[in-house]
Amino acid sequence: MSFYDAVGGSEAFERLVHRFYQGVAEDPLLRPLYPEEDLTGAEERLRLFLIQYWGGPKTYGDRRGHPRLRMRHAPFVIGEPERDAWLKHMRDAVDSLELPEERSAELWTYLQYAAHSLVNA
Ligand code: HEM
Repeated sequence: MSFYDAVGGSEAFERLVHRFYQGVAEDPLLRPLYPEEDLTGAEERLRLFLIQYWGGPKTYGDRRGHPRLRMRHAPFVIGEPERDAWLKHMRDAVDSLELPEERSAELWTYLQYAAHSLVNA
């Protein structure tokens, strides 16, 4: 069974990413990085990406093609402060899901690794 199915499918990812963007919306360091006035599109892209990554439907790829995350983050200055702020909101969002400990740890390990790999400044 995929991680996606094990955590209950799209609903878990909707909750995760929605909670995360509520944090970003209030964050004075991160909010200015997001080019769009409305965070709905960004929320949808991250949700579809994570769903695909964890074994759910491949809608992200159908719409956006190869993720190329390093390249797609190149326009934004992401130093350690931005990375840590991103991870702080994601930690809060992961905790809010109340997943079984092992699943929670698996998700968190990946997100930390991915965030570290996107630092570009
Ligand atoms: C897009 C910031 C880490 C996945 C974006 C955007 C910003 C951003 C400003 C553009 C928003 C938009 O789509 O309109 C950051 C910062 C990070 C970070 C400051 C801190 C390290 C991550 C991580 C992942 C991720 C760790 C994956 C696990 C994505 C995806 C998109 C995106 C999938 C949309 C790409 C597309 O299809 O255009 N990010 N990000 N980001 N980010 Fe991040």
